[in-house]
Amino acid sequence: MRASAILTAAGSGTRLGSADPKALVRLGADPLVVHAARRLRAAGIEEIVVTCPSGRDDDIARAVAEVSARCVPGGASRQASVAAGLAALGPDADVVLVHDAARPLASPALIGRLLERLAAGDRAVIPGLAVIDTIKRVSGGVVSQTLDRTELVAVQTPQAFARDLLVEVHAAGAALAAAESTAVSDDAGLVERFSDVAVSVVAGEDQAMKITTRVDLALAEAMLASGQWS
Ligand code: CTP
Ligand code: MG
Repeated sequence: MRASAILTAAGSGTRLGSADPKALVRLGADPLVVHAARRLRAAGIEEIVVTCPSGRDDDIARAVAEVSARCVPGGASRQASVAAGLAALGPDADVVLVHDAARPLASPALIGRLLERLAAGDRAVIPGLAVIDTIKRVSGGVVSQTLDRTELVAVQTPQAFARDLLVEVHAAGAALAAAESTAVSDDAGLVERFSDVAVSVVAGEDQAMKITTRVDLALAEAMLASGQWS
């Protein structure tokens, strides 16, 4: 089994509100994308393709040079960016991890758990964490339903797939990718919609948290500085 990774970094980071694209925002001494790429490398992933925001390919390429990742232009949605990354992979890999630069602290151990399940024969594996908040469905400002939290998981990246499956479902769902409003928000979503393959869930981890807002960045800074979540 040989694994490659697509590292999505082409988003603008609107909700973070920084001048630079989110992947280039610093966490400690290094941009988010570098933290994520290093951890993929530490988990033994040889080929890493990074999707880049338009006009910032050179900045991303310089940032990830130390892990010799390759850069490709991203697309109009995360889904389109992953499709572009997938098209740019070399021929060798038979499994593909899709990971977000917005989750810079996801650990090599988590990547190891995903790869283990693929090696055991699963074709789509994602990390999930039990939902902490009570989740309600709201319509017109009024609660219509409280969901059963015991059935829910919050899903993270990296997500791991048999390469042929990922290629097949991205082709099948390509029409959705033109805008974030129609696109799927994770790759497992394409597997669910366009294949009969079961998506397995392994234990996620707090440190694979996504950086969306300033609060998330402050928390990640504290985590990194503590040295407990490297
Ligand atoms: N991403 C991408 N291509 C896009 C949009 C997003 O590669 N067209 C990547 C982001 O760089 C990020 C991941 O997908 O690593 C998850 O997206 P998100 O957290 O939404 O990041 P942004 O889109 O950058 O943030 P925002 O939605 O606040 O603008
Ligand atoms: Mg986004």
